[in-house]
Amino acid sequence: MTVTEEIKSRLDIVDVVSETVSLRRSGRNFAGFCPFHQNTRTPSFFVFPETQTWRCFGACAEGGDLFSFVMKKEGWEFKEALKNLANRAGVTLEEAAPVDKETRKAHNKQAGLLQAAADYFHQLFLYAPQAEVARSYMARRSFNEETIEAFAVGFALDSWDACRSHFNMQGYSDQELLAAGLLTENPDKGTKYDRFRNRLMIPIRDVDGRIVGFGARTLDKDGLPKYLNSPQTDLFDKSHLLFGLDMAKRAIREARQAVIVEGYMDVMQAWQGGFHNVVAQMGTALTEQQLQMLKRYTKRFILALDADAAGAKATLRSLQVARQTLDREVEVKFDAHGLVQHEGRLQADIRVMTLPEGKDPDNIVQESPEEWERLVEAAKPVVAYVISVATADLDLDDAKAKTEVAQQVLPLIKDIQDPIERDHYWQQLARALRIDERALRQIRLPEKPLPERRAAPETAVPQTKSTAHVGWATVPKKARSGVGPIATDIRQADYLHQIIRLPNLVLRVNQKLQECGQTHVVVDDFVLAEDRAIMRQMYHLLDVSSVVTIDELWDSLEQALQNRLKFLLSLPQSTPSELEKLADQLTTSVLDWRLQEIYDRVVELQQLFPPTLRQEQPGIAEMYAQQTRDLHMAKLKLIKAKNMMSATSRRRSEDALNGRY
Ligand code: UTP
Ligand code: MN
Repeated sequence: MTVTEEIKSRLDIVDVVSETVSLRRSGRNFAGFCPFHQNTRTPSFFVFPETQTWRCFGACAEGGDLFSFVMKKEGWEFKEALKNLANRAGVTLEEAAPVDKETRKAHNKQAGLLQAAADYFHQLFLYAPQAEVARSYMARRSFNEETIEAFAVGFALDSWDACRSHFNMQGYSDQELLAAGLLTENPDKGTKYDRFRNRLMIPIRDVDGRIVGFGARTLDKDGLPKYLNSPQTDLFDKSHLLFGLDMAKRAIREARQAVIVEGYMDVMQAWQGGFHNVVAQMGTALTEQQLQMLKRYTKRFILALDADAAGAKATLRSLQVARQTLDREVEVKFDAHGLVQHEGRLQADIRVMTLPEGKDPDNIVQESPEEWERLVEAAKPVVAYVISVATADLDLDDAKAKTEVAQQVLPLIKDIQDPIERDHYWQQLARALRIDERALRQIRLPEKPLPERRAAPETAVPQTKSTAHVGWATVPKKARSGVGPIATDIRQADYLHQIIRLPNLVLRVNQKLQECGQTHVVVDDFVLAEDRAIMRQMYHLLDVSSVVTIDELWDSLEQALQNRLKFLLSLPQSTPSELEKLADQLTTSVLDWRLQEIYDRVVELQQLFPPTLRQEQPGIAEMYAQQTRDLHMAKLKLIKAKNMMSATSRRRSEDALNGRY
């Protein structure tokens, strides 16, 4: 999670806005008078808890997130807003690394080295005579060429210095090889040697597909450890990675669910079997960061973990993290005294898939893909699973132990959305504990304060020691709704990426926009507060000098923005190399995102102000009509601009064909 995400996950935009704007509930949202323009008749200002955003449908027609709200309200720069909100949220800000150029260079070089190493191991696997052992191993496990190719499986020679000499010759120092985890140093003797010897090499990639490390399986029958992984490096942090996610993310979106398995081989085998929505957690309990990453693609997680006792324990731990991490939907209720109660219900759907004794997904997929599908289908909701695990070896005469189990399971039951299903589990738990359901309903959950979470980015999961005491954190009192990053237009990120590389594009694109009757790119064109801040800084630097380097920009930004910049720079490069073509492309892209923005607004308007509401309230009808008119006009202008742009591009390519350009 980035710092801004962390802050947004801890603060509720409704709370923050409420401090200065009086809001009242309106369906799932909140409405009030806009603080940014004169209006006293119809509340045109809306706050959306689900997306944690706001928008004014009146004269100013603006919107944004928590950050843009306080920035606008207080007249702050991003930096001030960040400082202030971080303080309120109890998030510690990292100091911006002073001139981080060296580290950055080293990182880039390390990434290059890891990619080169993966190529090297893969070539060895394919062609080296010594790799026969690895090739026959993979064949025995029935992996085909396509899978081996897709995962770029490799082989490390049975040698203490083959890898080292190979890369020394390519100009990499021992220091760099050590940092990338390819060399190991014996601290007593000071000797250095290849870390991976006679092993099957499985490259591990981050979500964007960059190689960050290796999982290396022994090829000796009893070799230990079975899997030797890259050591923790700057780029390789197991708790932030899920094996296979780079290849699975699309399938996860399409299947609307992610299956989480334990090992590399399971993912690869599933992939080969055509099940592409599978990722592995690589021998650690599921972490918050992993879930944050996954939930960008789906809300349904299926844990396919080991059936044995240790596996069950790990699963419980994973579930605990999941509950703490994932979004909650707030439900407002009234208690017996008519007091408002907020209840948070988990929006994610977490299921547990029970594997037949002694089998992992690897075997199952190979033996019978249908069986795999059936098991995925039959995954049980987590509560049923937890009740069975938690009551498995419970001493029914131990009243204290029973209470403890109840306290573990109850929060889960309370998370269930459907009242009938909820009731079903109340009964099931009462039966499993052999107590009266009414007694069960009287058990109080220990009131715990908000789980202490350290500041981003380090938030490892505490490893709970004993099985019985898996401490479910209670639902935070002030349950929160959607914390996820708001939907952003990838075109905006791409635009920033390109102009950061080629700052001249900014002016060129603006000129083109002007030519087709559009305004220049402004900071408010962007959805994310970070992007707005980066754009503003870009304009600022361009004001001073027409030549802006990435380093200059980098050094002028604070840590949170540097992180965003890092992400932007990691995006794939656009293809056209010609500046003019690129400018055309970006201009069209700006038009497209503005158009998309309009379509989204229209949908929003229709949802917020349905016909019945418009009939009842003339003020709203007027606002609706005005907005619709404006949006329509803006849409026409944009379509006209798009037509002009495509005519220009067509002319240009014709000219190029005729050699005139
Ligand atoms: P398993 O031992 O279940 O591995 O560990 P597996 O995937 O079934 O391996 P095969 O089928 O015997 O080849 C599950 C995962 O735990 C991590 C690895 O990520 C592995 O895939 N692990 C396991 C290690 O990191 N080190 C080990 O020594 C063992
Ligand atoms: Mn296995």
